Amino acid sequence: MRIDIISVVPDLLVSPFAHSIMKRAKDRGLLEVNVINLREHTTYARAQVDHYQFGGGAGMVMMIEPLVNAIESLQKHTVYDEVIFLTPDGETFNQQTANSLSLKKNLLLICGHYKGIDQRFRDHFVTRELSIGDYVLSGGELAAAVLTDAIGRLIPGVLNDGTSALTDSFQDNLLAPPVYTRPETFRGWKVPDVLMSGNHKLIDEWRQEQALCRTRERRPDLLDED
Ligand code: ADE
Repeated sequence: MRIDIISVVPDLLVSPFAHSIMKRAKDRGLLEVNVINLREHTTYARAQVDHYQFGGGAGMVMMIEPLVNAIESLQKHTVYDEVIFLTPDGETFNQQTANSLSLKKNLLLICGHYKGIDQRFRDHFVTRELSIGDYVLSGGELAAAVLTDAIGRLIPGVLNDGTSALTDSFQDNLLAPPVYTRPETFRGWKVPDVLMSGNHKLIDEWRQEQALCRTRERRPDLLDED
């Protein structure tokens, strides 16, 4: 899978993909992430990519021209399944969206800055608009990193344990149950006996019950129990 990201602050997108699972995905040739510096695609002086908004008002708007130059140069060699603009007024990103995007071949992510991007780019080039939550970040880069991480770890072969993505929180609309590891007792706090029983049927039932309790307590909105 290939994820291209257009950004005015490409340095922000180096570290998130240089470690741990994202690095492994890259090293295994399963995920290729390319960050494109929008400033290299402007014809304006001093690498300008934004301007005052028509109609007045505070805040700069990213101009359509550099964005179109960037996307059209990428489209010469790549056909994108989705062109995604990260924006707080987009549809809320969730596990289900991550699952479906992980099946795509080529994604292009557009990071906004300042007051936003010229609406004409959204109208004519963007196929999907996603928000990572009801708060405003200073740019789309951190949101693009979140999306890439959530999608990338779902690509078959990226996680060492092939089943572990399936047992994540949200995969079945349940939060994940508690987990424990060594030592069996720490400061007198014991691991639940059932996990040490070796009885996998009982362990599965306990985990299911814990997941349900936790979801009911913390995220009742995920359950259809009315
Ligand atoms: N850009 C700024 N805030 C954002 C958010 N909450 N989600 C996605 N992109 C954003």
